[in-house]
Amino acid sequence: MSAPIDLAAFPRDFTWGTATSAYQIEGAVTADGRGPSIWDTFSHTPGKVDNGDHGDEACDHYHRWPEDIALMKRLGADTYRLSVAWPRVFPGGDGPVNDAGLDFYDRLVDGLLDAGITPSVTVYHWDLPQALQDRGGWAERDTAEHLAAYASAVAGRLGDRVTQWATLNEPLCSAWIGHLEGRMAPGVSDLTTAVRASYHLLLAHGLATQAIRAAAPGAQIGLVTNHSTVAAASTRSEDIAAAVRMDGHSNRWWLDPVYGRGFPADMRELYGVELPERPGDLDTIAAPLDWHGLNYYFPTTVTDDPGGPAPYAREIRLPDVPRTGLDWQIDADGLEALLMRLTDDYGVGRIYVTENGSAFPDSRSPDGAVHDPERTRYLEQHVAACARAVRKGAPLAGYYAWSLLDNFEWAYGYEPRFGLVHVDYPTQTRTIKSSGHRYAEIIRAHRQEHA
Ligand code: IFM
Repeated sequence: MSAPIDLAAFPRDFTWGTATSAYQIEGAVTADGRGPSIWDTFSHTPGKVDNGDHGDEACDHYHRWPEDIALMKRLGADTYRLSVAWPRVFPGGDGPVNDAGLDFYDRLVDGLLDAGITPSVTVYHWDLPQALQDRGGWAERDTAEHLAAYASAVAGRLGDRVTQWATLNEPLCSAWIGHLEGRMAPGVSDLTTAVRASYHLLLAHGLATQAIRAAAPGAQIGLVTNHSTVAAASTRSEDIAAAVRMDGHSNRWWLDPVYGRGFPADMRELYGVELPERPGDLDTIAAPLDWHGLNYYFPTTVTDDPGGPAPYAREIRLPDVPRTGLDWQIDADGLEALLMRLTDDYGVGRIYVTENGSAFPDSRSPDGAVHDPERTRYLEQHVAACARAVRKGAPLAGYYAWSLLDNFEWAYGYEPRFGLVHVDYPTQTRTIKSSGHRYAEIIRAHRQEHA
C-alpha cells in the first residue's frame, strides 16, 4: 500500500528528474582524447576503492546514452541532471580544448532535447584532471581560475541549448572527504590543505558563475551543496557545542559565504588556518544566484570529541532507526527542515532538490523484475517531505532522484545500488526497478493534479 503524497502542493511547473555524474556512469575513460582525472588515479590505487572497482567501464553511458534517454522517457521525467567531465574537455586541465570531448555532450544534449527532456548541467562533479592535481589541485588558487576557463568553454559550446547550470556539486565532499578525511580522491588528510581547498572551491564557484553568465546570457545558475541536519547526542552542554561546530563544518561554512555572510568566524577560529583571501574574493563567492541545489541523504547526531579531528564532533549511530544498505539513517523530516532553512534563514528564492536517494543491494528476481520496496518507501517519504515544505512556503521548483542508474559509488565501488534502474554490469542490461515505476506513477499523478 503506497503512502499518500500531497502532490497538489507542488506547482504545475514543478519539474521531476533524475541525476547522475560523468565519472560514475560514462566509462570510456580513454575515448576521444579524454585525459586522466584524480578519480582514475585514486580508483586504480590499491586499497582505495572497495573490491578494487573503478570507473573504466561503469555503465558505458558514453556509448549507451540513447538507451538511457529512452529510460528517462519511460519514467516520464521532465529533466535530467548530468555533469560534464572536465578531463574530456581539457585533458590536461588547461591548454587547448578537446573538441571531440565536447562533441559527446553536444550529442547528449541534442538527444535529450529531442526527447523533450531538459538538461541541467553541472560543470564540476569531482573529476579534477590529474594534471592539475599534479600542480597542487584545489590547494592552489590557479585551479579555481582553470575551472572558470573550463566552465566558459562548456557554456560557450552548450549554452545555446542549455539554460540550467550548476557550477559545482558538493564542494564539501571535495574539500572535507577528499582533503581532510582522505576517503575520496585525491586522498589527502591535512587540515590546512582541506581549508585551502574549501576556499578555492567556493572561489571557483564564484568565478565559474561569472564565466557562465558571460558565455551564455540567459543562463540560470546555481550551486549544489549537500547538507545534513545536526542534532546533539544529549543535553550536555559539550554535546550541544559539538552540534554547533558540526553544523558550522557541514552547513554554515558552505552557505554563509555564498549568501553574503562571509566565512563563519567560529569555524575560522576552530580551523586556525589562514584563508588565502584576496580583495574582492568574498563578493565573487557571493555573486547572486538564480537557484540553489540541495542534496540530502541523511541526518546526523553528534557527540563532543575533543581528541578527534576538526570539528571535534563525532557522529554517533542511533539504535533502532531505519537505515539504508549503506547504514545511512533514513529521516525525511531532515529534508523538510533543510528546505525550510534555505528558505527562511538564507532567503533562497528558488530551490531544487538536486539529489536524494538510497542504496540497497538489489538484484533481479527470477521473473526478471527488480523489487525494491525500501527504496520505494524512501522515495515516497522524501517526496512527501518536499510537499510539506512547499506547503510551508519553500520555493521548491523541482526534485531529482539520485540516481537514474546504479553506478560507481566512489570509494564504495559498485556494490551500493542507488538507481531507479538496475544495471547488470557484465551485460550492461538495464531494468527499471519497482521504485522507478513508482516514480513514474508519482510524476503522472502530479500532472493529473494540474490537468
Ligand atoms: O553518488 C553520490 C553523488 O556522486 C554525490 N552525492 C551523493 C551520492 C550518493 O553518495
